[in-house]
Amino acid sequence: CALPIFAFFPLIFQTVNVFHGHTKNTNFRKNEVRTMEKFIVRHSEALHGTVRISGAKNAVLPILAACLLTEEPCTITNVPPLTDVMEMAELLEEFGAETSYDGLTETIRICSETLSNQQAAEKNACAMRASFLAAGPLLARCHQAALPLPGGCPIGSRPVDLHLKGFSIMGAVHKLEHGVVELSAKNGLRGKRVYLDFPSVGATENIMMAATLAKGTTTIENAAAEPEICDLADFLRKMGAEITGDGTDTIVIQGQKRLHGATHNVISDRIEAGTFMTAAAITGGDILLEQVRQEHLTPVIAKLTECNAKTEVTPTGLRVYRKGRLRPIQLKTMPYPGFPTDMQALFMSLAAVTKGTSVITETVFENRFMHAAELQRMGADIKIDSRSAIIEGVDSLTGTSVRATDLRAGAALILSALAARGETEISDIYHIERGYDRIEEKLRALGADIQRSKDS
Ligand code: UD1
Repeated sequence: CALPIFAFFPLIFQTVNVFHGHTKNTNFRKNEVRTMEKFIVRHSEALHGTVRISGAKNAVLPILAACLLTEEPCTITNVPPLTDVMEMAELLEEFGAETSYDGLTETIRICSETLSNQQAAEKNACAMRASFLAAGPLLARCHQAALPLPGGCPIGSRPVDLHLKGFSIMGAVHKLEHGVVELSAKNGLRGKRVYLDFPSVGATENIMMAATLAKGTTTIENAAAEPEICDLADFLRKMGAEITGDGTDTIVIQGQKRLHGATHNVISDRIEAGTFMTAAAITGGDILLEQVRQEHLTPVIAKLTECNAKTEVTPTGLRVYRKGRLRPIQLKTMPYPGFPTDMQALFMSLAAVTKGTSVITETVFENRFMHAAELQRMGADIKIDSRSAIIEGVDSLTGTSVRATDLRAGAALILSALAARGETEISDIYHIERGYDRIEEKLRALGADIQRSKDS
């Protein structure tokens, strides 16, 4: 790789043009514009119809980062036009990659032939937490990387110590200067045994990517087993990497001299699917989800069944419906295959209108109950006791003004608003756009009363 020379070019306009010029999604605009918008949601009867689930945001982001591992072009399909995806593409361009997005086919092409720069400019490190996933590929291919230390998020402090521990065992050194983590591995990375104290998704992905170009064999123990890890491993194997054990707690990576370009279709988004499944349950509706991987939804299906929603695999997708009364929920978030933390807020919306006492325990993030206060404003009866929320179901919630405090919390407020009496205004919806592709269009097609409006 060439020495870091940051060749400035109009990143913002180029990316907007690339993403917006060809996209079928005419609503796709920059984050800054969207901060001024809100959703107006009115009580909606049972949702009915069919919804197509988009590609998984949490699979796309590491896969885009992995494109930095090769100088050859890569083509990724089933990529939704999300703000987070656009920001990751901008980041890759900062390093010298060329990207182009076709919204009609939801395909992104990335060529990282020359990486002229391995230093990311300081930007919104929290919104761009996934930017740290570029560290492993840059370190592996260019032997250096400098990325802003991601800040704390509303859901927790979200450190990267496990990522750094892995890189350090593999021979990298790092220092923190002015909020930027500078990493270098002068003699390249060496394959080693890396034990993770917690099965962190991001750390597993970063170390797995770094190990593909390291000398020798890397073994990641207590690795995360999320489906998005397996999708990344599938893509890396298409690039020529040798990886076994993904989807289990031990992943073994045999380092290669180089990787080549590849084409990959991203898995569907299990959290978006879970969101629409919960929407069917909360409104007593009947929704058919197309393009879902049912096997990735086992914990969500299990908990919805306990709540008295029904699921059925049909030749065209997964049908979710509810006819009887909801039953209270007892759940604890856990790393995969446990119940996903990203579905926790959505189930709290469900519990808020379910007669009886539900208990939801969050074990993955330390501060992921911000939505509880917003739900309380709508009339929910929720008490937080350390890592558990005790929810006494009420007959109905009432619409008011609430704020999306993070991505999944925002989606949970939409579901609550559909079930609430009257009208709910949800502000700060840019959080929601980070991870949901045209959510209001998809919900409207199912009969929901949801509009986008300017936020004064
Ligand atoms: C990913 C997902 C996010 C999901 C989360 C858990 C992406 C882009 N985001 O986030 O939607 O909610 O997995 O399923 O894929 N931790 C440390 N040190 C580290 C790394 C993590 O202490 O170095 C802690 C975190 O603070 C958190 C826990 O481990 O408490 C889980 O985090 P992690 O699995 O790393 O989540 P992300 O990869 O950030």
